[in-house]
Amino acid sequence: MIPSKIRGLRLWLSDKIRPADPPADPDPEIYNLALGKTYSEYWSNLARDRETAYFAVAGKPFGEPATEQSLDQHGEASARIIARKLAVAKDDRVLEVGVGVGRLAKSMAPLCRHFTGVDISARMVEISRERLAGLENVHLLALDSSGLGRFPAGCFDKVYFQVVLIHLDREDVFHYLEETFRVLRPGGRAWFQFYNLLHPGGFREFCHAVEFLVARGDKLRGRVQCLTAAEARKFVAGAGFQLREDLSHLAEKEQQFDFEIPDRDWEFYLIAVAEKP
Ligand SMILES: C[S@@+](CC[C@H](N)C(=O)[O-])C[C@H]1O[C@@H](n2cnc3c(N)ncnc32)[C@H](O)[C@@H]1O
Repeated sequence: MIPSKIRGLRLWLSDKIRPADPPADPDPEIYNLALGKTYSEYWSNLARDRETAYFAVAGKPFGEPATEQSLDQHGEASARIIARKLAVAKDDRVLEVGVGVGRLAKSMAPLCRHFTGVDISARMVEISRERLAGLENVHLLALDSSGLGRFPAGCFDKVYFQVVLIHLDREDVFHYLEETFRVLRPGGRAWFQFYNLLHPGGFREFCHAVEFLVARGDKLRGRVQCLTAAEARKFVAGAGFQLREDLSHLAEKEQQFDFEIPDRDWEFYLIAVAEKP
């Protein structure tokens, strides 16, 4: 998915040995211009087989290539946090945009009445369909474009995006926020996760994109992109939401999390939890 995801064990080691050690080289596969010019091409090429799809969504959970078990375990930790912040309830209709291989969905779906997962990559949806086959309340769909036009207004109680908006151009990010506002019922709640440009980790991700793409003469659709907390706030408010300051993590630089973070990348996350009035 992102260069930082390949750090795992090395990050832990560099912490122990040399705190100022530079990060590992990003994975050349992820920054390969040949992967495609559209979001769907890029992600479906990354998801060409199970191994690469798992890497694309989760990197190396716990520093090792993903197994079914480690993928579930990694996803469960994030799903638990998101469910708590969104107050997901038994009767809720929940939407995950960018469902990937169903890493989080597997833990989220049993918590709600109806779970919908959408993704720009038909290949990702195919894999998540196989992985979530035993869950009866799950509905999975491939999107034709970045948007939620196929859903009527007010049809969801909760919506979340996890490691998805960080791969989109900012116009597409804002469009998704507006679309989320439309498909939520009044009082519904959303989780939007971004990378923080002002945190050293977020800035490093941005520099990788410059070094591995722009400097080589092009930009890749799907590359990692960052925002500042002020920009995230502007987008959330501009789409009509009320930000839940008490549930969000939008400090300018360092977040004070009120939970144990599932992995070190969370240190440069910005998390906006927002409600439709
Ligand atoms: C890094 S993966 C994360 C998957 C899942 N949310 C998780 O945390 O395991 C990003 C996912 O977003 C999907 N995606 C990328 N661009 C998208 C877009 N414009 N609209 C919907 N999904 C998109 C990709 O196909 C991929 O499955």
